Amino acid sequence: MSFKLNSVERDTRVLQLSEELAEIEQRLIPTGLHVFGRAAELQEKADLLRMVASFDRPEQGARALTSLVAEGLKIDSYDQLVRETPGSEVRELVDGIVGDAVRRFCETGAEAAASWLHSRAGVSPAESLPAFSILKQIAAELNSNTEIESLLRGLRGEYITPGPGADIVQNPLVLPTGRNTHAVNPYAVPSQVAFARARLTAEALLRRYKDEHGRYPRALALVLWGLDNIKTQGEGVAQALWLLGVRPIRDALNRATDVEVISLEELQRPRIDVVMTVSGIFRDLFSPTMVLLDKAVRRVAELDEPPDVNYVRHNISEKMQENGSEFDDAVARVFSNAPGNYGTNVNFMVLDSQWESEETLGDLFVTRKCFAYTRDSQGKTVEGREAPQLMADALSRVEATYQNLDSFEIGITDVDHYFEYLGGVSRAVETITKSRPAIYLSDSLSPQTKIRSLEETVRLESRSKTLNPKWYEGMLKHGFRGVAEIENHVANTFGWSATADAVDPWIYAEISKTFLLDPIMFQRLQELNPHSVSSLTNRLLEAHNRGYWNPDEDVLEKLNELVGSPVVELERARQS
Ligand code: BEZ
Ligand code: MG
Repeated sequence: MSFKLNSVERDTRVLQLSEELAEIEQRLIPTGLHVFGRAAELQEKADLLRMVASFDRPEQGARALTSLVAEGLKIDSYDQLVRETPGSEVRELVDGIVGDAVRRFCETGAEAAASWLHSRAGVSPAESLPAFSILKQIAAELNSNTEIESLLRGLRGEYITPGPGADIVQNPLVLPTGRNTHAVNPYAVPSQVAFARARLTAEALLRRYKDEHGRYPRALALVLWGLDNIKTQGEGVAQALWLLGVRPIRDALNRATDVEVISLEELQRPRIDVVMTVSGIFRDLFSPTMVLLDKAVRRVAELDEPPDVNYVRHNISEKMQENGSEFDDAVARVFSNAPGNYGTNVNFMVLDSQWESEETLGDLFVTRKCFAYTRDSQGKTVEGREAPQLMADALSRVEATYQNLDSFEIGITDVDHYFEYLGGVSRAVETITKSRPAIYLSDSLSPQTKIRSLEETVRLESRSKTLNPKWYEGMLKHGFRGVAEIENHVANTFGWSATADAVDPWIYAEISKTFLLDPIMFQRLQELNPHSVSSLTNRLLEAHNRGYWNPDEDVLEKLNELVGSPVVELERARQS
């Protein structure tokens, strides 16, 4: 490989690097676990409040402090900068001032912070006070914590005040915590805001695929979760509708029960075929939405349009010609578990090391999730018909898989559910088509609708969490549990190798270096939680044995030393 770059290439590369650094720096990094019944500390609150203050809240008459500061400093391109370049000096300046203002707010209150902001950036207090007053309310609610009282009330069978379920940044009304979370009215999904936001995300997703592949994907597989669609009022659902090229319409009772077709002139691109892998929770909560999604696919499949601009119709008629399928079979696109059943089990299989080849994981995914939620030829709703062949047929056209991240707190290595779903469906596609799909994620929370490849997201999570001292020191304050969390992150990272080959070898090398080869850190972990240290070591060796990284000889030797007799210990860990 040659490292000679001309000056333009070098500048481009330096700019890319600085943007990547800025992206890591700007992420909200959870610094520790929530302790049930305990209020958040001031520093944690400051980071969270800064994030809250970066969004307009028109319903409460407050504008984002970032926009106000940019205006005060006469920078008119701030919103565009945020969308296009994560790392710029102007953006750093604005974010720095907002950060200072929020810190002042935490220390000295709203009025003092507003008047500081006036002198620093020319923002009139009349404009900033509505935002600070929201922060004041949130700070007060974060200070009080009635979780234990509520739990006790619940255990006594008493009434618990209800509250909405969402992310604090997305909807501060979720505070105070310790209430009885209520969901949404499924007929309200997707909301108008969700539909508008989904358009940007869906178009960005298609643009990214097209930039990389020179054309649109023939079909996409989407993961839809229940809690996410509660939090975002149905952004995932809306993304599916946009990709198909339809919009929801509401009946006389204002319920989203039907769709109307968006014209190809308006769409300016082909209609994309979508295969929806729906969680059991989504299926239970959003039964009318399941019907809506199935209806949307059928409506698009029946349009009299050329196949080169209507991939749904193209794929379905091809399938019907190929193997004589009936329309009602070929059109099935909404798949979930059997009624009353949840999860893919791919996570359990991966974490228990109970699998031979990666294809087993893809097969398991289809076995668990191949229940079609659709209609029969008489138009009767079918809730969960076991149909592995139909699912395999639908997945056989898929060229890209995708999931939207809905929360600042939970990312793809925090829990095993992302790799069991997005990883699982990607492995299923690869097993069926013998070709790895492009895999993407977006986070619908950042002001810029950013699409990332899975590999980019794994790198970002590894740098901002697992390998970030700010994150792991926050975890280590929790002692035993904190070490277990670090080990979980490593195991979930491994899950992305197993299901999607998406982890760069350097990540495993850095994990070894940070937690096991550094004698002081190793000693700390060992004293707090030797069980997790042993699992972590075994996991890194398993990753090597399965070919996901190739440690240097001395590193391998050291890892083997740490687990004692290597083969015996590894086998014991696998079987336990
Ligand atoms: C859901 O909200 O649908 C979900 C939550 C956790 C794991 C899997 C799915
Ligand atoms: Mg989530």
